[in-house]
Amino acid sequence: ARIYVPGDAGAVALGADKVAKAFADAFARRGLDIQIVRNGSRGMFWLEPLVEVVTPFGRRVGYGPVKPSDVETLLDGGMLDGQGGPLSLGNVEKIPFFAKQERFTFKRVGLTDPVSLDDYLAYGGYKGLQRAIELGGPSTVEEVFQSGLRGRGGAGFPTGIKWRTVAATPPQQKYIVCNADEGDSGTFADRMIMEGDPFQLIEGMTIAGLAVGATKGYVYCRSEYPHAIAAMNKAVLAARKAGYLGSRVAGSDYDFDMEIRQGAGAYVCGEETSLLESLEGRRGLVRAKPPLPAHKGLFGRPTVINNVISLASVPFILAEGAKAYADVGFGRSRGTMPIQLAGNVKYGGLYEIAFGVTLGELVDDVGGGTFTGRPVKAVQVGGPLGAYFPTGLFDTPFDYEEFAKRDGLIGHGGIVVFDDTAEMAKMARFAMEFCAVESCGKCTPCRIGSTRGVETLDKVIAGVDRERNLAIVEDLCHTMKLGSLCALGGFTPYPVMSALTHFPEDFGRGSPLSI
Ligand code: NAI
Ligand code: SF4
Repeated sequence: ARIYVPGDAGAVALGADKVAKAFADAFARRGLDIQIVRNGSRGMFWLEPLVEVVTPFGRRVGYGPVKPSDVETLLDGGMLDGQGGPLSLGNVEKIPFFAKQERFTFKRVGLTDPVSLDDYLAYGGYKGLQRAIELGGPSTVEEVFQSGLRGRGGAGFPTGIKWRTVAATPPQQKYIVCNADEGDSGTFADRMIMEGDPFQLIEGMTIAGLAVGATKGYVYCRSEYPHAIAAMNKAVLAARKAGYLGSRVAGSDYDFDMEIRQGAGAYVCGEETSLLESLEGRRGLVRAKPPLPAHKGLFGRPTVINNVISLASVPFILAEGAKAYADVGFGRSRGTMPIQLAGNVKYGGLYEIAFGVTLGELVDDVGGGTFTGRPVKAVQVGGPLGAYFPTGLFDTPFDYEEFAKRDGLIGHGGIVVFDDTAEMAKMARFAMEFCAVESCGKCTPCRIGSTRGVETLDKVIAGVDRERNLAIVEDLCHTMKLGSLCALGGFTPYPVMSALTHFPEDFGRGSPLSI
């Protein structure tokens, strides 16, 4: 018999380790031989720790949120037979938040033992790699191109074109680098994949290697993700032992191996060129492009750099075919997006759905509005460099182009909700301060502009010469947007200008406060 107690960092933060220990102690006391599997999270964080049991009839029944003090009562109440009770959730896949999703990339997360290769294989793992081996490199690249997959790190660049560029370089040492420096506020999809289904990322990277002719891969993971690093390392060892990494991968003629590297906590190291610098052992300073990493990347060699979710989407595309992926979506945004609902939201968590769902559906229907029960004032989509949208823009479909049309970005799919107590001038100041703290310092608009931005917004907030200082902020944003070398300086104007545009009264414009 098996019970599942999530080992996901989010669930652990909510007490899952203590719950697992309470179950282990209770089973020992009762002389029960039951395996406790530390699975990934199903992504419904208001229900964590969410414990699932497999009943003698093979049904899977959930209970949550479980506290250590609930364990004896649950066992006495027939939990192991799947009997109800106050914490019973029934079949968790029938909970509306879960049932309405289209889980392509997250299909195994929460379902399996993340570090068990047997589980991975039993639930369709490595079917994508087998197909890629049959297709060969060039057709695998085309399959990814046909799927319409775009970079999930934020920029939305077509993954197939990136792979084509690397595949077209002359044969030489090439690399696959996975950007797992998930630094955006309110995002956790990369972490959940690495903790909840690490083999899928390994398989995606192996397929990428085979497709473009790269034999070595690196995952650059932020140091704040120790659980993810541990799960990835275990999975890499297991995959290597079973012949899925190393020479002649899965009995084919291809070689591919990989390792996990740990970052040191700089937001800018999520920018691809500064990530490469860091991976090479230097300070995370942004490089000018061109040359593109696809031409001259890690150690000056052609390199595919993709986000965790981009790479983890690939096994599905190969296993099910490009069409199955491209068939869902909106406009040029094909497939699904693992959307992360965070901040002041009632039902926060991971929601994977095809592009095209509106922002309002996500925040109001899926997220249930604010956690505090107060009206929603703004949502920031796409991390600390994303725009603040008011409820007036809730009809915006989740799609790269539709957000861009409204001066926003979907970024890595993080949505942070704020209620009516949020002070938007302070949020704008925070964006400038964040940029000042995290700037790599290479270019002037970002390094100097962000510091002057903080000072000028402080004057606005203090009511000093408001209109003149707001004009300076606007001018500064214009310069940063056009003159910065990378997205950190170039995108900081989005939160600042969106706050000013949509909430002018918070800056003393058009309200009784106005001077
Ligand atoms: P970018 O538009 O410069 O490049 C996108 C990607 O396409 C890069 O990998 C680039 O090397 C590649 N590329 C461009 N042309 C190519 C070609 N012809 N052949 C092959 N590859 C090509 O955008 P950038 O600066 O890489 O990313 C900016 C985005 O990062 C923003 O949209 C923002 O949302 C996102 N972001 C994500 C964060 C996260 O935590 N995931 C944090 C901060 C920003
Ligand atoms: Fe560095 Fe900022 Fe310039 Fe990016 S925009 S290169 S982070 S100084």
